[in-house]
Amino acid sequence: MQLPTLYRSALVTGASRGIGAAICRTLAGLGMQVHAVARSADSLRALCEETGAIAHCADVTDLDSMERLLNTLDVDVLVNNAGQVAALGPLHDLDAAAIDSMIDVNLRAPLHLMRLVLPGMIRRGRGHIVNIGSTSGTFVFPGTAPYAAAKAGMTAANRVLRHDLAGRNIRVTEISPGRVRTDIYRDALDGEAGKLADMYDKFRTVHPQDIAAAVAAALTMPEQVDISFMEVVPTDQAPGGHAYAPAKS
Ligand SMILES: NC(=O)c1ccc[n+]([C@@H]2O[C@H](COP(=O)([O-])OP(=O)(O)OC[C@H]3O[C@@H](n4cnc5c(N)ncnc54)[C@H](OP(=O)(O)O)[C@@H]3O)[C@@H](O)[C@H]2O)c1
Repeated sequence: MQLPTLYRSALVTGASRGIGAAICRTLAGLGMQVHAVARSADSLRALCEETGAIAHCADVTDLDSMERLLNTLDVDVLVNNAGQVAALGPLHDLDAAAIDSMIDVNLRAPLHLMRLVLPGMIRRGRGHIVNIGSTSGTFVFPGTAPYAAAKAGMTAANRVLRHDLAGRNIRVTEISPGRVRTDIYRDALDGEAGKLADMYDKFRTVHPQDIAAAVAAALTMPEQVDISFMEVVPTDQAPGGHAYAPAKS
């Protein structure tokens, strides 16, 4: 696969594991200079030793440190991948801090990162923003209200950006995965092995490298093509449906 020569550098958030680490490996393999952002210093260092990416140990919700970092870089490709499911359950049972954290990581941070990289992309006349969404933003998965709201908010923002950036040679792609085997539910399920096995062992899931391949496909399209939305779900997953509570007698 050939990369368009206009993209030389990428910044990938949530790079320490899971989908973000796979995206870093794939983009480094395509010859890009990758800037890898996450909070876990050891995992990030190991990934960067393996791939040649540059590690930036940072919290994406810390806007001052993100701004300081992005002021020093020319980023052709921003991959907003960092994500978090801090808790699962009906909204009225969730901890207020967990709700705020999911909005901060999944919605507020990616919006600000786009705000920070876009002026440089506009000045240079090229750029590509890839936002990793979720089928939770489109379909109903019980117990995910803040996470789903954040992901749906990003879908709305992506569509608006396509208008705001029309004619600037900047592409915006949302990749919306279904179930991918990663650690994203580990904290919310409190490490309960049985529940995690239920999520992953009963059918074939998508792998992180499959999402990375979808990112690469969008980046390597000819310049006149923007894959604006891509849903990447397991062959064995069909999202959607209805729930009917029994009538009270
Ligand atoms: N796995 C799925 O089934 C699935 C489905 C649909 C969408 N997605 C989306 O895919 C993306 C990647 O998730 P994943 O499944 O790979 O999850 P994961 O294995 O839990 O990885 C999440 C990544 O985000 C980073 N991160 C979280 N909070 C951060 C913060 N405040 N600052 C910087 N980095 C932060 C984590 O690094 P540190 O902890 O080191 O900071 C980690 O590298 C997310 O946007 C998620 O919503 C996943």
